[in-house]
Amino acid sequence: MEAVVQFVQKSNANTAAVALFGAIGLATVALKTLSLLRVLVDVFLRSGINLKKYGAGRGGWAVVTGASDGIGKEFAFQLASKKLNLVLVSRTASKLKAIAEEIEQKYNVETKIYAMDFAKGADQDYQDLKKLLDPIEVNVLVNNVGTNHEIPTPFEQETNEIMKNIVEVNINAAMKMTKIVVPQMIARKNGLIINLGSFAGLVPTPYLSVYSGSKAFLSSWSQAIGAELAPMGVHVQNVNTFFVVSAMSKIRKASMLIPFPKPYVRAVLGQIGISGGASTPFTSTPYYGHALANWVIDNLFTRSYWVKHNYDIQTDIRKRALRKREREAAAAKNQ
Ligand SMILES: NC(=O)c1ccc[n+]([C@@H]2O[C@H](COP(=O)([O-])OP(=O)(O)OC[C@H]3O[C@@H](n4cnc5c(N)ncnc54)[C@H](OP(=O)(O)O)[C@@H]3O)[C@@H](O)[C@H]2O)c1
Repeated sequence: MEAVVQFVQKSNANTAAVALFGAIGLATVALKTLSLLRVLVDVFLRSGINLKKYGAGRGGWAVVTGASDGIGKEFAFQLASKKLNLVLVSRTASKLKAIAEEIEQKYNVETKIYAMDFAKGADQDYQDLKKLLDPIEVNVLVNNVGTNHEIPTPFEQETNEIMKNIVEVNINAAMKMTKIVVPQMIARKNGLIINLGSFAGLVPTPYLSVYSGSKAFLSSWSQAIGAELAPMGVHVQNVNTFFVVSAMSKIRKASMLIPFPKPYVRAVLGQIGISGGASTPFTSTPYYGHALANWVIDNLFTRSYWVKHNYDIQTDIRKRALRKREREAAAAKNQ
């Protein structure tokens, strides 16, 4: 009789355990499905904050760094098309001048240009920029300028110059530009700061370690100042970017995961204040292909798996880049 009681008690315990694990499994699947649905709704159905809130159509100004090429140039055109006046900053004055003229003609807005090399980190440049920006109503700042390792490189072999350039351009430029414009944004209780983040800041990327670290800084810093500035009417958004066709990515062909700058920037500006595929505060992954990739990284496999995945990809890219360098050196020798 005692054995029967024990058997019944054991089976009841087993059944309860199976039911508990089943319930936990179902709840996990349900939560994951809901989070995926939230991402799909964000990227395909919701519209973000209208740029009219940030001075568009009423004489407000947007400042774009790295505005002469790639994603930054596209930001300049699309912000101007929404009727924001534009301050364009990058190294090459001739390119900035040509873009400013085209924007003025096409969109009938005002422009200002300032040519500087952010890698130099010169105080004089930032003082001059402050003089340029203090008298105008800056509503939008796009901290877009960025630089990367020339090719994937083991950290111990990277030059001090490239390390310094990445820190100056990707980190210090964003902080210093923000310090210039944020006091007037706080005073007006209105402002939008968009920081160009990267998946390399989400998942550490071996062989691009300094770039990866700089984008992780940008992600953490954006979230911290995002929380500080939100009560003062200033919205900060770190935009988590996977590959986009550009000179920096060295990719020329677009695909579902790799858009041209135009659809990419359209997605960013259409989803201000919406997270898309991102799961951290004050962050968005607005382009649908990137949003789904972000969801997969956050929800499938471990972070160690994704770091190893990046290691394998960058190892392969490095091999190909070194072979290309050898071919170019041989061709130069034969000339
Ligand atoms: N493309 C991607 O796949 C990708 C992925 C993730 C994140 N991002 C981020 O998106 C941002 C834009 O990248 P992108 O692909 O559009 O780059 P890009 O095509 O190489 O354009 C970079 C822009 O920055 C300017 N610039 C570069 N170094 C500068 C410096 N030292 N001082 C002043 N201006 C400088 C360049 O103009 P001048 O040469 O005339 O100065 C150009 O206007 C970067 O922050 C990047 O990290 C890009």
